[in-house]
Amino acid sequence: MTAENQSLIFRQLDEHEQKPYNLLLLADPSREVIDEYLKSSLVFVAEQNTEIVGTVVLQTLSEEIAEIKNIAVSPVLQGQGIGKYLIENIITIAREKDFKTICIGTANSSIGQLYLYQKLGFEMTEIRKNFFIDNYPEPIYEHGIQAKHIIMLAQEL
Ligand code: ACO
Repeated sequence: MTAENQSLIFRQLDEHEQKPYNLLLLADPSREVIDEYLKSSLVFVAEQNTEIVGTVVLQTLSEEIAEIKNIAVSPVLQGQGIGKYLIENIITIAREKDFKTICIGTANSSIGQLYLYQKLGFEMTEIRKNFFIDNYPEPIYEHGIQAKHIIMLAQEL
C-alpha cells in the first residue's frame, strides 16, 4: 500500500495539542534536546483515521533558511511512503512560507535516511564533526556504526 491510497491528512499541530513524543523520540533519543528545538519550531503531523502516524518538525534558522529537525513515522507503518509524504508536504509548506533553502541533518550511521533525503532532492553540504559524541550522554549505534557526526543536507526551494 502507498501513502497516496491511505487517506492521509497533513496538518500543523495546534500549540495546545499534546506533542507526539512517542514519534519524536524515534528520531531523536533526547527529550531535552527535543524540547529545546520545539520552542522555536512548528510541528506537523500525518493523520490516518484521526490517529497521528507521522510527524515532522520545522525550525526557522533565519529569514531564508528552515531546518527539518525531526521526522518520524509509526514503526508499524514505516516503509509505506509516509516519510516521503511528510517530506514532500513540509517542502511545500517551507516554499509557501518563502524560505529559500530547507535543510536536514542526520547521523553518519543513518544509512536509510541518507538514501531517502538524497532521493528527495537534498544534497550533502556539511559534516558537523562529533555532534552526537558531544551532545548525547550515551553512545548511539545503528547498523553496527557509531553515530558520531551529523551530515547536513539541503535543497533550494
Ligand atoms: N533504510 C532503508 N531505506 C529506507 C529507510 C531505511 N531506514 N527509510 C526509508 N527508506 C527508503 C524506502 O525504502 C523508500 O525507498 P523507495 O522510494 O526507493 O521505495 C524511501 O526511503 C521512502 O520511504 P518511506 O516509506 O517514505 O519512509 P518511512 O515512511 O519509513 O519514513 C523515516 C522514513 C521517517 C526515516 C522512518 O523510517 C522513521 O520514522 N525512522 C525512525 C526515526 C528516524 O530515524 N527519523 C529520522 C532521523 S533524522 C531527523 O529526524 C532529522
